Amino acid sequence: NCDVKTVIAPVNIAVIKYWGKRDEELILPLNDSVSATLDTSVMCAKTSVCANPHFAEDEIWLNGKKESFSNQRLQNCLKEIKQRAYNEKSIDDIFLTWKVHICSENNFPTAAGLASSAAGYACLVTALAKLYKVKSDISSIARLGSGSACRSVYGGFVRWHAGVNPDGSDSIATQIADSSHWPQMRALILVVGDTKKKISSTIGMKRSADTSELLKYRVQYCVPKRTDDISKAIKEKNFGKFAEITMKDSNQFHAVCMDSYPPYVYLTNISHTIIDLVHKYNEISGETRIAYTFDAGPNACLYLLENEVPKVMSLIQHIFPSSSDKFVTGLNFKEEGLNEEFLKILSIPIQAKDSIKYVIYTKVGDGPTEIKDG
Ligand code: ADP
Ligand code: DP6
Repeated sequence: NCDVKTVIAPVNIAVIKYWGKRDEELILPLNDSVSATLDTSVMCAKTSVCANPHFAEDEIWLNGKKESFSNQRLQNCLKEIKQRAYNEKSIDDIFLTWKVHICSENNFPTAAGLASSAAGYACLVTALAKLYKVKSDISSIARLGSGSACRSVYGGFVRWHAGVNPDGSDSIATQIADSSHWPQMRALILVVGDTKKKISSTIGMKRSADTSELLKYRVQYCVPKRTDDISKAIKEKNFGKFAEITMKDSNQFHAVCMDSYPPYVYLTNISHTIIDLVHKYNEISGETRIAYTFDAGPNACLYLLENEVPKVMSLIQHIFPSSSDKFVTGLNFKEEGLNEEFLKILSIPIQAKDSIKYVIYTKVGDGPTEIKDG
């Protein structure tokens, strides 16, 4: 007799990056960040939770494998949800003493720089909130799992407010615009490597917060204006402005990594090839039609409008030939042949060892949803 709640939740890719904490335990950031939530029909975490008086321990299975429940972040999320349920008197207190079983899987590689932790914790916290009937904003609880997870609690374009309160009560995510606001917006994730990253975000951003002068400058002088400007660009659907800010912010984040001591580097040769390619493409187009952004790894996320996708896709397939027959996954698109204009772009030298493994084609989507027959 176990009431099971099942939820699917999206990943999100930031256009203004979160990098650096003011509180490690509560996961409070040094700066606001902005992201787009990506459609769960292409990439998602799926999590089922249930509580039962006969369960001896809290237990979690991730991608079919039993994991240790000793993970502090996981425990913090569960503890905080129960505290909320207690405060809101949403269920009988006895229910809060029952142990919980959690089963989750991602339909894309875990811990490979594709934001599985964001989707995973947003999913877990939403499922637990359903189980314990918590009604208030849960982005601050998802944040305790992984900072970027708080943005996956909402769909569309989302802003995580750094907040100023020491207890983190104002460090929450809010929606800038919902998923239907800019329906032409698309994302292409160029997966360069899907193996575990060298320096985790948590460790990298701590090193930057401790040692980088550039990070201090970024937090004080750059991010506040960029956050306002990109929110405005999103509201006005000004792609050129959106793209320029996105690329500059990604570049500054990676400059901060290099400005840290000892420095660390996430971008590889192929990442730099993609950066050059995007700038050449925009130059030849006479306007900014593609934006790139890179998280703590070499994979590129390109933001672009739907009508640009066929051209960009054929260009990618031409430049990065792949033996894989499932080179593109996700949404459907019309193939388009290359024309003269593109051949000019192809003058970019590609090293033989550089290759994109595959491309995920997706769009802006909604926040977590409950699956009734899950
Ligand atoms: P990524 O770049 O994919 O976010 P991280 O190394 O930052 O990789 O985070 C991976 C960690 O996030 C996993 O080890 C696990 O602790 C957590 N995680 C990922 N997916 C899930 C999930 N579906 N449910 C719960 N936790 C998850
Ligand atoms: C580069 O949210 O993974 O993707 O809070 O320590 O779990 P923790 O870090 P995490 O960092 C994400 C960093 C980023 C930028 C972003 O998503 O804003």
